[in-house]
Amino acid sequence: MIGLSIGYALARSGVACVILDRTELGREASWAGAGMLPPRSEPSPGPVQPSVALRAWSARLYPEWSAALLSETGIDNGYRRTGGVDVAWTEAEEHALRTTAGRWRVEGIAFERLSPGDFGRVEPALNPDLRVVYYLPDRAQVRNPRHLRALAAAFASRGGSIRPSCAVNGFVARGDRVVAVQSEAGAFQADHVIVAAGAWSGRLLDGLGVRAPTPPLKGQIVLLRGDRPLLRRIVEQGKHYLVPRDDGRILVGATEEDAGFHVLPTAEPLRALTDAAIRLCPVLSEARVEATWAGLRPGSFDTRPYIGFAPGYRNLIVAAGHKRAGLQLSPATAELAADLVLGRDPRVDLAHFRIDREPATGEDVFRS
Ligand code: GLY
Repeated sequence: MIGLSIGYALARSGVACVILDRTELGREASWAGAGMLPPRSEPSPGPVQPSVALRAWSARLYPEWSAALLSETGIDNGYRRTGGVDVAWTEAEEHALRTTAGRWRVEGIAFERLSPGDFGRVEPALNPDLRVVYYLPDRAQVRNPRHLRALAAAFASRGGSIRPSCAVNGFVARGDRVVAVQSEAGAFQADHVIVAAGAWSGRLLDGLGVRAPTPPLKGQIVLLRGDRPLLRRIVEQGKHYLVPRDDGRILVGATEEDAGFHVLPTAEPLRALTDAAIRLCPVLSEARVEATWAGLRPGSFDTRPYIGFAPGYRNLIVAAGHKRAGLQLSPATAELAADLVLGRDPRVDLAHFRIDREPATGEDVFRS
């Protein structure tokens, strides 16, 4: 998703790109996610933390990109401002939500804390025994497989070239420049090379002496479907979420597991996800299980992605390590990578995302 979004941003500026993917295009984390997007925000005037600026800009770009993709390709990517509820069962979860709500206020995100007895006004399926429910009318979603399809079609129609099943196996560097990318299909020469290979990025960069670990963080999802619409809003409770689609499907996510590159679903985590979903919305007990799958989110050495030139190279850009937030941050990450390729001043301070930064501690701005 990140690489394809960069390709689209560059193609819109008239830059010719080739995208290499080791498997079918976008079939790893990009495809696996549930498509949750954060609410639009209008941070107050004054200095804004770069992570907040990146998230807010991306949230603003989504409706613009979605409209442009629809008019360019005829593909509706499923961007919808369905609204969401963030809920708590325990005192600790309530405390965490209250802290988050303080940030929503500062960032200009619309929200309402619902009174007990009033949950059903916003989401009739919610368990009335929940301790706390916050309503976020601007929470949105996109159908990531459709967004991938729309990006690929728009990229190709602007002359971009996509090479699926074409694994990169090395680079040719001369001094401070990468002059070619070596792949199973031969070498590709380029003025700029961008590594946006998700959890596989760290290994690729190792070969160039660039240390940017992207440890995989496995996430499992269960896809439910009802015979009637069972849920209206996106529901979030800590790391659990329920994302209802227009067609009655509901994605239930997600685990966070350190399982190396193993990507098959497993029984116990799926049972825990399903139990948590039914507790949040008891009506889900009548839904059918349509599918299960897992994906590998790319981690970084802290809580932030890497976006910028790789240390020691003038034309090698890294855009990876977005962990749970790759989909939501993809448009703004793409615009920033395009800024670097085109020699423009990046529109967000990239010092914050440098690969050779001091690891960040205590930040939690990319929750869903
Ligand atoms: N973006 C949600 C997840 O990674 O599970």
